[in-house]
Amino acid sequence: MNTMVIMTGLQASGKSTFCKIHLSEFKHISLDELKTRNREKLAILSCIENKEDFVIDNTNPSAADRRRYFEAAENSGYKIIGYYMRSVIAECMSRNRQRTGKAKIPDTAIASTSKKIELPSCDEGFDELYYVEITENGFKISEWKED
Ligand SMILES: Nc1ncnc2c1ncn2[C@@H]1O[C@H](COP(=O)(O)OP(=O)(O)OP(=O)(O)O)[C@@H](O)[C@H]1O
Ligand SMILES: [Mg+2]
Repeated sequence: MNTMVIMTGLQASGKSTFCKIHLSEFKHISLDELKTRNREKLAILSCIENKEDFVIDNTNPSAADRRRYFEAAENSGYKIIGYYMRSVIAECMSRNRQRTGKAKIPDTAIASTSKKIELPSCDEGFDELYYVEITENGFKISEWKED
């Protein structure tokens, strides 16, 4: 069965690094890189058409942000997995401050995303959900507990 992964997490919470390490076989789809929602959608539909596994690597903070992906994958038979980066905002800001060039964004952008975060839920259509945390030994993936 093919798989679509939807990441959720603040800027500098480690999403792209996690994708590189744990989802290296997945086609990487990033709105930052593609620039427009239309190009993002075409990239997703092309993956589905070609039966490729793919990961959407955006902050995707709210259920409404994520809904478009469930719609795009509707009736595709794809399994839908979510990884939620369980992060501390101050640590994201501190990792962001260590970035250079365009990758470094204002603290206010991280604070603003933080206000929009809605925890993913199986009700949205996820087949599997996991927490991801940054630890001294790399990423720790744990099972989801719905409140
Ligand atoms: N497991 C880790 N341990 C220590 N540092 C990490 C880890 N993962 C990522 N980092 C560092 O944190 C910073 C942010 O990581 P990354 O770019 O993966 O975040 P992101 O969530 O993709 O951010 P954005 O939403 O802005 O794209 C990077 O400088 C990276 O080197
Ligand atoms: Mg990233």
